[in-house]
Amino acid sequence: MDEIQIKALNEQFEGSATEDLLDYFLKNYRGKIAFASSLGAEDQVITHMITSIDSRTKIFTLDTGRLFPETYDLIERTNSRYKINMDIMFPEAAKVEKMVKEKGVNLFFESIENRKLCCHIRKIEPLHRALEGYDLWITGLRKEQSITRNNNKLIELDNNNHGRIKINPLLNWTEKHVWDFINKNNVPYNKLHDSGFPSIGCQPCTRAIEPGEDLRAGRWWWEMPEYKECGLHQR
Ligand code: ADX
Ligand code: SF4
Repeated sequence: MDEIQIKALNEQFEGSATEDLLDYFLKNYRGKIAFASSLGAEDQVITHMITSIDSRTKIFTLDTGRLFPETYDLIERTNSRYKINMDIMFPEAAKVEKMVKEKGVNLFFESIENRKLCCHIRKIEPLHRALEGYDLWITGLRKEQSITRNNNKLIELDNNNHGRIKINPLLNWTEKHVWDFINKNNVPYNKLHDSGFPSIGCQPCTRAIEPGEDLRAGRWWWEMPEYKECGLHQR
């Protein structure tokens, strides 16, 4: 797909229902499109939609080894509710062992470099492996989440991932829209969302936020907002 086709598809789907966009890509790229789910609220909406269109679609999660127990619980509840078996991707053991031997288990608090190294080994490399053989991937990114996500498109070329196409079906959804969908459809969600965690990643790098704080204020809270991307969505 070239830039012109991508632009045309963005125009075509700008005002359409999210289900129609997913339906188009899941049906036209069966076996070539995969969904990366962190089990966040947005991802649960997408899992609900994907499984109602084509439950054979590959859905994977990157298990960094540092996730919250509540997230593992949600993997099980989601598999059972939608009768699926998500792929769980792990980091390479030898790389994690070397990293923690050299820099300690909680290296990420010491510098941005260390934090990026940990994200690279525990998330980015497994993401690349998960996407091998796939031309398109789906994410749960929303514009409202962060200033780093203002310029994303519904459909975009992902230069970080060998020019794959990245589909962000919920890009223009608001937080209220997400939760209305979850409540209306009784979609399983992470219990931490009820305790002030709007955005959930690894346990050591995520904390609850206070009312009124930025949605991602609890992620890598010791870093500046413009640097707060683990690299999965670096542009
Ligand atoms: S992150 O880059 O800061 O971690 P965030 O948690 O906001 O991202 O999630 C944005 C999207 O990235 C998710 O909707 C999902 O598509 C993808 N993603 C993030 N973390 C993971 C993960 N652990 N496994 C699979 N996909 C993930
Ligand atoms: Fe490591 Fe924290 Fe990144 Fe998870 S979010 S991979 S624990 S630095």
